[in-house]
Amino acid sequence: MNFTLANAIEIAPVGFGSYKATEGNGKDTIKMALDCGYRYIDTAALYKNEKEIGEALSEYGLDRKEIFLCSKVWPTMLGEKETLESFAKSCEDLQTDYLDMYLIHWPKANQTDDKWQEKLAAGWAVMEKLYEEGKIKAIGLSNFLPHHIEILKKTAKVKPMLDQLELHVGYMQEYTLEYLKKENILAQAWSPLGRGKVLGDSRVNAYAQKYGKSSAQILLRYLLQRGVPVIPKASSTERMKANLDVFDFTISEEDMSILSCVEQIGWSGEHPDTVEFGF
Ligand SMILES: NC(=O)c1ccc[n+]([C@@H]2O[C@H](COP(=O)([O-])OP(=O)(O)OC[C@H]3O[C@@H](n4cnc5c(N)ncnc54)[C@H](OP(=O)(O)O)[C@@H]3O)[C@@H](O)[C@H]2O)c1
Repeated sequence: MNFTLANAIEIAPVGFGSYKATEGNGKDTIKMALDCGYRYIDTAALYKNEKEIGEALSEYGLDRKEIFLCSKVWPTMLGEKETLESFAKSCEDLQTDYLDMYLIHWPKANQTDDKWQEKLAAGWAVMEKLYEEGKIKAIGLSNFLPHHIEILKKTAKVKPMLDQLELHVGYMQEYTLEYLKKENILAQAWSPLGRGKVLGDSRVNAYAQKYGKSSAQILLRYLLQRGVPVIPKASSTERMKANLDVFDFTISEEDMSILSCVEQIGWSGEHPDTVEFGF
């Protein structure tokens, strides 16, 4: 069940989310994920773990082509010089000369940045150039809502191929999903388990019992059936494997409908139009 981007690049349905996954035993966690079968790794300059990931991959010894590496540029590094610098640093740390996918992490880091549209246009132009040179196989966005994408479209020559968003039962951002579908931009889910906060929901637990799977597997399968690839983070071999083991059952249409109508739960609290990262 691979997903295909507008430029025909294939995306694994389940990738490994590395945010805070490498704290303590960084390289070992990545090797553990590779042992479990993950071949798609999601990282970002912000996560400060690209070096560990690069070392783990090099020690593990897989052919570069077998790995799908996605990293992200932080919005304060959007600009003609800055984006190029950030990309080069990510590649150096990850020990690679190309990225499979590169995303703009957020439209803006702070709401007071009144130059964000210009920076966005300049950063995207750099990504387009790197894409045309073959140094990035797919370019995309993260945490962009339709009104941010409409602004980008005014200056973009290449349309974004993917938008990584907070998506999980209890926070499905239906309007944005509909827009992305129309625009042929693939939506990908960050925090597909609601950072663990949705795992205890009684409805999700009931479906876990009904389908003989765990709550985490229900949440991941729900997204896949919605046409959304996922990048869960997990710390143990058991959980890493369980999160990949979501292809031997199907949630019925009726149950999909009920899960789609769950009221808002488990939201991170981070909204692109209000979030203040302060860095
Ligand atoms: N683009 C963005 O702005 C953005 C923002 C946030 C995250 N992300 C990406 O998305 C990835 C995933 O998001 P996330 O880490 O925030 O949240 P998540 O994947 O929804 O949830 C991770 C939490 O769920 C637990 N867990 C994982 N598998 C489980 C299982 N099978 N059973 C029970 N519990 C399980 C983990 O515990 P243990 O670790 O203890 O196993 C952890 O506490 C990140 O790692 C990052 O790569 C991107």
